[in-house]
Amino acid sequence: MTKSDQVVERRTILLAGGAAATVVLSGCVVQRAEPLVATQPAQVPSAPQPSAPQQSEQPQQPAQNALAQVADIPAGGGVILKDQNVVLTKDQSGKVCMFSAICTHQGCAVTAVEEGTINCPCHGSKFDATSGEPVAGPARKPLPAVAFKQRDGAIFPA
Ligand code: FES
Repeated sequence: MTKSDQVVERRTILLAGGAAATVVLSGCVVQRAEPLVATQPAQVPSAPQPSAPQQSEQPQQPAQNALAQVADIPAGGGVILKDQNVVLTKDQSGKVCMFSAICTHQGCAVTAVEEGTINCPCHGSKFDATSGEPVAGPARKPLPAVAFKQRDGAIFPA
């Protein structure tokens, strides 16, 4: 390995690290998965076959692991998933973001998404619903973005 190879490798590593940090800081991490194979069999009229194993004809149903349906997230608003400690937001264009629901001020759980902000009830911190950045109150750090996958109109853990 030459000295110039080492420089390139270091630059590559630094750029890769910078890209990862940018993703985390962006507030919205959307990893689009490949669309699933069609889940409906071809439309062929046939008589019902009561003994046919219906379950085995269906592909695995990933919706069982879904955190939420995109359609259930109000445009310009959001939903808070208390069990997962995350908040999902959706802007007017339909872009979905997921953030930690734990306030960065003193650790209370946020309780509302209203008028473009994610709100903490404890001391009044508000975070931008599309970036997670604090916009009001004592919090100084943004809500951390949480990675997820969006597929077939549903949100899944990354
Ligand atoms: Fe959220 Fe203080 S813990 S504003």
